[in-house]
Amino acid sequence: MTTVELRALGLSDLRAIEEIERRSYPTPWSRSMFAGELAKPSSICVGAFDLDGDSGTLAGYLIVSRYVDAWHVMNIAVDPDHRGRGIATMVLERLFELTADDARRGYTLEVRVSNSTAIALYERLGFESRGIRRGYYTDNREDALIMWKDPVGRDGV
Ligand SMILES: CC(C)(COP(=O)(O)OP(=O)(O)OC[C@H]1O[C@@H](n2cnc3c(N)ncnc32)[C@H](O)[C@@H]1OP(=O)(O)O)[C@@H](O)C(=O)NCCC(=O)NCCS
Repeated sequence: MTTVELRALGLSDLRAIEEIERRSYPTPWSRSMFAGELAKPSSICVGAFDLDGDSGTLAGYLIVSRYVDAWHVMNIAVDPDHRGRGIATMVLERLFELTADDARRGYTLEVRVSNSTAIALYERLGFESRGIRRGYYTDNREDALIMWKDPVGRDGV
């Protein structure tokens, strides 16, 4: 079993992020969108690195923005070769740890209604459906499911 290390993403990770992004989404984010999120002090950007390589190979990432009343999951993706090993679960659990002192903010995200793998993952981690945004995705006009999770708090859920 390989070891996975979680650490903050930096600009030097952009090339690897872009590769996973292209393999993961029909309409991938551009490199400058990632660079913009990485530059914001209020964002949480976590990378999961497979330590089989020297300094580790990026296997997945999580990008979260801080809003007034919520932490908004903007992007989460795991390289197809590394899926089903708990990496997305690990990065989301790291988010809950990092924000456990923030009792004012819950967590929210949008997900394609057809993305049953991601929806099952979020539900397992305590997210619930809070509504639909009709035609949210511009490539195929697919609806987005809005999901919400209450603040975690120091004692966990
Ligand atoms: C959605 C996504 C991020 C999940 O990443 P992942 O690392 O495979 O997720 P996890 O491994 O934590 O959990 C996924 C499944 O693997 C299973 N799993 C977790 N650890 C496992 C392990 N060690 N061995 C086998 N299976 C495992 C989980 O039970 C889960 O199954 P589920 O379908 O019952 O939920 C990934 O599929 C992806 O990048 N998809 C494309 C981008 C995308 O859709 N992002 C979400 C947009 S909102």
